[in-house]
Parts: sequence; C-alpha cells; structure tokens
Amino acid sequence: MSRSAHPAGPRHADVLTEGHYSAPPTDLNALDAKVWSRTVTRTPEGVVSMGGIEVTRLAEEFGTPAYFVDEADFRARCRAWRDAFGREADVFYAGKAFLSRAVVRWLHEEGLNLDVCSGGELTTALDAGMPAERIAFHGNNKTEDEIHRAIEAGVGRIVLDSFQEIVRVSHIAERLGRRQRVQIRVTVGVEAHTHEFIATAHEDQKFGIALAGGQAAEAVRRALTLDGIELIGIHSHIGSQIFDMAGFEVSARRVVQLLAEVRDEHGVELPEIDLGGGLGIAYTPEDDPREPHEIARALGEIVTRECEAAGLRTPRISVEPGRAIVGPTAFTLYEVGTIKPLEGLRTYVSVDGGMSDNIRTALYDAEYTVALVSRSSDAEPMLVRVVGKHCESGDIVVRDAFLPADLAPGDLIAVPATGAYCRSMASNYNHALRPPVVAVEGGAARVIVRRETEEDLLRLDVG
Ligand code: LLP
Repeated sequence: MSRSAHPAGPRHADVLTEGHYSAPPTDLNALDAKVWSRTVTRTPEGVVSMGGIEVTRLAEEFGTPAYFVDEADFRARCRAWRDAFGREADVFYAGKAFLSRAVVRWLHEEGLNLDVCSGGELTTALDAGMPAERIAFHGNNKTEDEIHRAIEAGVGRIVLDSFQEIVRVSHIAERLGRRQRVQIRVTVGVEAHTHEFIATAHEDQKFGIALAGGQAAEAVRRALTLDGIELIGIHSHIGSQIFDMAGFEVSARRVVQLLAEVRDEHGVELPEIDLGGGLGIAYTPEDDPREPHEIARALGEIVTRECEAAGLRTPRISVEPGRAIVGPTAFTLYEVGTIKPLEGLRTYVSVDGGMSDNIRTALYDAEYTVALVSRSSDAEPMLVRVVGKHCESGDIVVRDAFLPADLAPGDLIAVPATGAYCRSMASNYNHALRPPVVAVEGGAARVIVRRETEEDLLRLDVG
C-alpha cells in the first residue's frame, strides 16, 4: 500500500518520515464513503448516525464497546453479489467472517447460500432456518461428528480437504444410506494478498490437496471410486483481502486444466468449480476494492475462456465472499478513557475495548481508520495510536491515525469496516466481555448478539 508522509504540525516532524500512517485528512469531520457503511452520515449538529440513529443514542442504549451493523447495507451487498453472479453462478457467504441467526435470515431472504466451517456454524445456520441444501461445509479437519451431522442435515456440499477425508465422508454417508455431493479443495500454487499474488511454492500449507505432483488428480481418482460420495467439482481458495484478479486468473486456469485431465482420464466433466473468497474491502481510503459485477465479469470471462481452450463445457461457478459482504457494513464504537500525549511522537488514546474485540491489528498488522463521532471538531489533527485496555503493549486497535487535538475522555470514537473477523475472532482475554452486535435499520436498533456478562464467564468456570 502506498504511504505518503505529510506534515501534521512541527511536533510530529521527526516521526513523519517513518511512514506507517496516512497523511492527515484535510477535513477530520468528513466520513469517507469508502470505509463507512452506506447509511452512516454526520448530522448538521456534528453527531454521526447510522440508519438514522445517532451514535450518542446508540451508546446510551447499548453501551460501548459495541459493533453496529448496517442491516440495509448488508442486504444491499448481498443483492449486489447475487445479481452480479446471476442464475449461472452461486454466491456462498463465508460465515467465518461473522455469523449470527439474524445474519443467516438476511442471507436466506436475500437469496444467498452459506459456507460454514464448524459444527457451531452449521448449528447456527440450521437453527436460523437456512435450507441445508444451500449450505457448503468446509474445514481441513472436520470431526466425524461434524461430518455425520452435516450429512444427516442434508448439506448441499462438503468440501473435502484431504485424502483421509475423502474416505471418511464416503464411509459416513454410506452408513447413513446417503450419497453426499462433494467438491475437492485443491491448492493451485498461488497465494494472493492484497495487491500481490505469488505463483510459486504455496502448496506449503495445511489446506487442500496440491495440484502439483498429480496429487489432486489422484484424489479425484479415489473419489470417483467411492459409493458414498458424488464428486461435483473442484474448489480453490487463494487468499485474503485480494484486489488483483491475476491470482484468480492463474487459479481458474489451473483448476480448468485439472477438469480437462479428469475428462481425458475418466470421461467425466465435473460440473462445478468454486473459486473461494478473499475479495478485498477498503479498510482505509487508500484501498480500492472492485465491485461485485466487475469481479463476476472477470471470473466469468476467465473460466469461459479457459474452458473453451480446453474444449470443456463451462462449469457452474461459485464464490465465497465473507469480508466483502459483511466487512464494510459495521463499525465498532468505543468511548475514550485516557489520553497520553508523547511530545514529538504521538498521542496514545485508550478506549474501553481493544485486542479482545479486534485482534486483526495485532495479528496481521491490519490498518484501520478512526473518527470522532459524538461531535464534530475544528481542532488541528493530532497523530494518534488507538489502543485498548488489555495488559499487553501490542494491544493496538488503530496503529496510526489522526483525530482532533481537542479529543477528551468521554468522547465516542468509531472504527469503520469492522464487520468481518472482529466479533468472530473476539476473545475473553483479561476476562473481557465480548461486545454486542447491534443491527441498525430504518431508525430502529436491536441487539442481534448480546453483550457477554460476568455471569457468562462464571457459568463456564465450573471449578
Ligand atoms: N472460502 C474459504 C475456503 C476460506 O478459507 C475463506 C477465508 C473464505 C472463503 C472467505 O474469505 P473472505 O472473503 O472473507 O476473505 N481472519 C483473517 C481472514 C481469514 C480468512 C480465512 N478463510 C482476517 O481477519 O483477515
């Protein structure tokens, strides 16, 4: 990501050349539409609102820290993905990004399918009424119990991740008197992250069966001999937060090559390919994600071209976006507790949450922006690091950002684009209580995942 250093006032001059932050925005009160969900605006009084409700009211009613998800935006993104891929392709929302019963109902109502990767996600999906045939079950080490439950429920597909699993799933299906539809997950020798992809040696990972060395072809050979499974396609997932379609191009080409080999060897044309998820979103205004219709067109063209070249019928394509649907739809609201200015360096702003509600900054060096949302301010920009309340100096929520210099304890600040992999990766570190998720829509707000309580913690502690 390109970074430029701009003066933010003389006291920051010596650190400005070190670069891990954006230039101060010209207007700290402006909310960049790239990183905030669609119904977020700043009212004329200066308070930010989502779905017509001011954050001051939200904080009063639901407390902080809390995640607020813009239901209208979530649904609009589901529709955009579904419409972009049309009837010829399937969109599976990757539940690992964030899953709750309300989310399952939204997905169901908006016509999306669901990818789950654990018994817990499967239970949530079924409990909230997702039809089992619209569920795909993933995971590199599904337990026998999980496989059993998935087959019994009638999931639409299980994505097989290893040689052992090919046999395991087939046996369990046979025991249940079923023939389970499956895909085989292959690793195509491509790993993609953000603006780059690397096309060498990335079989070195726990997921999937390598195309290299004929392993995937061998997996297909075995799968085709087993009675408990029906092999319907090949699956490939190449990485996360991807903007560059070149990685998908290589992946699709290699998957289609395998389909051609399978046709040549077995006389079978597998009818489906799944190209996984990983499509990037804007965490900061510097990020430029693609729209679903551009992604759908690009993937469709790549697959059609490769299949024509190989003389294959174009298979049905599916994709599994998680972050690209839920990520941009939510922000985390925090209250500022303490402020520690370090002359010539930066100002540490401590909030009432931290790495327990957003581990991504500590874990991946992820970048976020932040804004003062309970009021507007005309004060000068101040270089800040937003940190949490945990007993760890790596407890950073936003590494480098600018907030107005008159920031004070009690102000509310919000971090946008926290819909994906924040609540779903939240922890109880320091016995923190995991924050609630509140859905906001058309002037109404309701809790969809409640805040944990100390009683919840004690209930688990049975010693
Ligand atoms: N399909 C498969 C097989 C996956 O493994 C994943 C993500 C997805 C779909 C959805 O990817 P998405 O579209 O959400 O990027 N915790 C990390 C991301 C881990 C993703 C793991 N697999 C993060 O916070 O960035």
